[in-house]
Amino acid sequence: MICRLFGSVSQKVPSVLYWSSLMKPQVVFVLGGPGAGKGTQCSKIVENFNYTHLSAGDLLRAERAREGSEFGQLIANYIKEGKIVPVEITINLIRKAMEETMQRDEKKFRFLIDGFPRNEDNLQGWRDVMEERADVKFVLFFDCGNKVCIDRCLERGKSSGRTDDNRESLEKRIQTYLQSTRPIIDLYQTHGKVRTVDAARCVDEVFADVKTILDKEG
Ligand code: ADP
Ligand code: C5P
Ligand code: MG
Repeated sequence: MICRLFGSVSQKVPSVLYWSSLMKPQVVFVLGGPGAGKGTQCSKIVENFNYTHLSAGDLLRAERAREGSEFGQLIANYIKEGKIVPVEITINLIRKAMEETMQRDEKKFRFLIDGFPRNEDNLQGWRDVMEERADVKFVLFFDCGNKVCIDRCLERGKSSGRTDDNRESLEKRIQTYLQSTRPIIDLYQTHGKVRTVDAARCVDEVFADVKTILDKEG
C-alpha cells in the first residue's frame, strides 16, 4: 500500500500543544459531486462570512505543479483517473494551509474544507491528524444529479484546462463519488451533521439556502 511509503504522518506534524496556542479552528466540510458548485458557493460564502476557503483539489493541483514535488506525478495520475489521492499527502497540505492562514491572521480560524473527506482513507487521515486540533461543525452537502454534474464539468472543461473535465475522467469521478464519497456523507448524516442544499438550481437560489444555514449555524 502506497500510504506506508510515507511513514507515520504524526512524525511530520507540529504538536497539539502548538495548535492549542491558537484559536481552535472551526471547520465546515463541503461535499457534493464533481461540478455540484462547491467552489462557486464557497467563493460566495467567503464574500459574505468570515471563512477561509481551502479546496483539497486546488491544494493537490498546486502540489502537482510545484517544482521539485515528490508527489507531482502520483497526483497527476490520480486526478486524471478520478481516484482519491492517499490522505497522507492531502492532510498535510490541508494542515499546512490552515496553519499558514492562522499564522498570518489569528482571527482567521473558520475554514471551509472543500472536497474533503472524500473516502474512508480521507476520514481516517483527518481523525489521525486533525481531530484533536479542529472542530468539525457540520458538512455542507451540495446535492445534485449526476447529469447536471457532468454537464457543468463539461462546460467548465471548455476553459478550465483541467485534465479531468472530460467525459472519460468524469465517468470515473462520478463512480468514485457514488462509491466512496456518498457513504461518508451518509455517515455524517447518521450523526445529524449534514446540511443539504439542492444544488441543481441557479447559483443565487443555491446561495440563498446556504446563507440561511450559515446565518443560523455561524
Ligand atoms: P465543484 O467545485 O463542485 O466542482 P464548481 O463550483 O467549480 O463545482 O462549478 C462547476 C461549474 O459549474 C463551473 O463552471 C461553475 O461556473 C458552474 N456552476 C456552479 N454552480 C452552478 C449553478 N448553480 N448553476 C449552473 N452552473 C453552475
Ligand atoms: O474537488 P475537485 O473536483 O477539485 O477534485 C479534483 C480531483 O482531485 C479529484 O477527482 C481527486 O482526483 C483529487 N482529490 C483527491 N482527494 C481529495 C480531493 C480531491 O484525491 N480529498
Ligand atoms: Mg471545486
